[in-house]
Amino acid sequence: MSRILIAYGTTDGHTGKVAEFLGSELRRLGAEVTIARPGQVPADPRRFDAALVAASIQAGGFQHPLQEWVTRHASVLSRIPNGFIAVCLAILDPKPRARKDLDRIVDRFVTATGWTPNLVKFVPGALMYTRYGWFKRILMRWIAGRSGGSTDTTRDHVYTDWPDLIRFAAEFKASLGGPVRGPVSAHGVLI
Ligand SMILES: Cc1cc2nc3c(=O)[nH]c(=O)nc-3n(C[C@H](O)[C@H](O)[C@H](O)COP(=O)(O)O)c2cc1C
Repeated sequence: MSRILIAYGTTDGHTGKVAEFLGSELRRLGAEVTIARPGQVPADPRRFDAALVAASIQAGGFQHPLQEWVTRHASVLSRIPNGFIAVCLAILDPKPRARKDLDRIVDRFVTATGWTPNLVKFVPGALMYTRYGWFKRILMRWIAGRSGGSTDTTRDHVYTDWPDLIRFAAEFKASLGGPVRGPVSAHGVLI
């Protein structure tokens, strides 16, 4: 059985949901999964066969406790199959410049931590307007207006493509070898 570590950083909680979702999919596919938030739950990647690291982009960078944890464990992470999940909103913006900016943010993370992930996946995140304070709500409304997100601040908006994450989990698990089951939708149908 593959032992997979999912380490994540979050500011407003959505990346935690992404980590839990991927964890439950990987468990369904037969993996033994540990989900850890560096700074809260100690996790040593040495006892795992593979690792996924997830963090959200906040003002052009990732959560510091997560970045410090990756820096500390970069060499161990590099020795096992691994992937980096970057949760953000700019991936919704079709302009090539937005994508270039995202690549630059990840490049800075790679340089800062000394860890070059085997794969990088950008995952559309969420606008949690109802949880932001007034200043953050105005700031995010302005950013969303420029990048194609909703400016309706009366409710939250989740852009994460959950079926895409189901496919990603299946591909990641399959890349580790061992028995593979196809991804199944919420209705139990093979997709
Ligand atoms: C203050 C703030 C700054 C953000 N800055 C960026 C950014 O620079 N680029 C981007 O693509 N998304 C940015 N986002 C969007 C977040 O990455 C997105 O809301 C994500 O779902 C947050 O995940 P979390 O709840 O795990 O922190 C920002 C969000 C907030 C609230």
